[in-house]
Amino acid sequence: MISSNPFADLSTVIPNYIMQGYVVAMFIMVIGGTILDMIHKRSAQYFFANSKKAKAAAVREVGAGAKASIAAKTVANEILTSGEFQNTRRRLSHLFTMYGFILFLVSTVNMIFSLPDAAASYMPMLWHLGALMVCFGGYWFWFFIRVDVSAEGNPWYRLVRADMFVVSLILTTTFALIWSALQSAGVAGWQTLAFIAFIASSTFLFSTVLWSKFAHMFFKPAAAYQKRVTKADGSRENLPEMADRTSAADRNRHSMELLKDAPLDMGKGISREAPRHY
Ligand code: HEM
Repeated sequence: MISSNPFADLSTVIPNYIMQGYVVAMFIMVIGGTILDMIHKRSAQYFFANSKKAKAAAVREVGAGAKASIAAKTVANEILTSGEFQNTRRRLSHLFTMYGFILFLVSTVNMIFSLPDAAASYMPMLWHLGALMVCFGGYWFWFFIRVDVSAEGNPWYRLVRADMFVVSLILTTTFALIWSALQSAGVAGWQTLAFIAFIASSTFLFSTVLWSKFAHMFFKPAAAYQKRVTKADGSRENLPEMADRTSAADRNRHSMELLKDAPLDMGKGISREAPRHY
C-alpha cells in the first residue's frame, strides 16, 4: 500500500486532465481566498500602516544587514521550527502537521502531474508518510493538546467555526489513507465512498480559506518578522522596555516599588502548574 501510487489506479476511472484540473482549481481557491481575506480584513493595509507607525516610533535605525539577519532568524525559528510555541507538545504537534502537510501536498502534485505513473518511486511513500504525520500531529492536538479540551474541560466533539481548518485538514489525510488502504485491498464499494469523503474534505479545506485559519501559514511569517523588527528598532509596539530588576534605576520606578526588596528569583509563578482548574 505504502509504495503504490493511488492516483495511478484512479486514472483508469478518472481522466488525468480532470485530476490535474482539480489541483489547479484548489490552488486558485487558496490564492483567491487569501487575497479576499486580505481585502476583507484589510490586513495588508493594517500591516503596512502598522509598520509605518513602528518606523516613526523607532529609536534606532535597522540597516539592511540587520534586517537580513532578522529575516534569517525568523525563517530558522518561527517558520522552520515553530519556535513561537512555548509549549513543547504543541510545538511538536505543529511540526508534525506542518511538515506532514507539505510532504502530502508536494507528493500529491508530483504524482498527479506525472501521470501516467512516471512519478519517482519514493513519491507514494512520501504521500503516505505525510498523511500519517498530519494525522498523528492533528489527532494529538485535537484530542489532548488544544486548550478547549486540555484546560477548559470541553468535550473533544464540540465543534466551533475556528475548527474548520484543523478538522478538514485531519479528515483529508485520514480519508486519503483509508482510500489508499481499501484500494490496495481491492475493496470496491467502500473504496469509492472513502474517495468521495477524501475529495469532499479536501475541497472544504481549500475552498474555505476566507473563513478558516488556513491563511495563517502565509500571514504568521510576516507577523513574526515584523515583531522582531519592532524589538530591534526599539518601537516595541508602543510597549515599555522589559524591567530589569538588577538595575537600580528600574527598581526605583514607581510600579517596581513593591518589588524593591523582593528576591531576584521569585520562582515559576503562574507557570508552576498547567491551568486545569476551570
Ligand atoms: C503547512 C503549513 C502549516 C500547517 C499545516 C499548519 C497547521 C496548523 C494547525 C493545525 C494549527 C492549529 C490550529 C487551531 O488552533 O485550530 C496551527 C496553529 C498555528 N500555527 Fe500553523 N501551520 C502551518 C504553517 C505555519 C507557519 C509557517 C507558522 C509560523 C511562521 C505557523 C504558526 C502557527 C501558530 C503561531 C499557531 C497558533 C495560532 C493560534 O492558536 O491561533 N504555522 N497551525
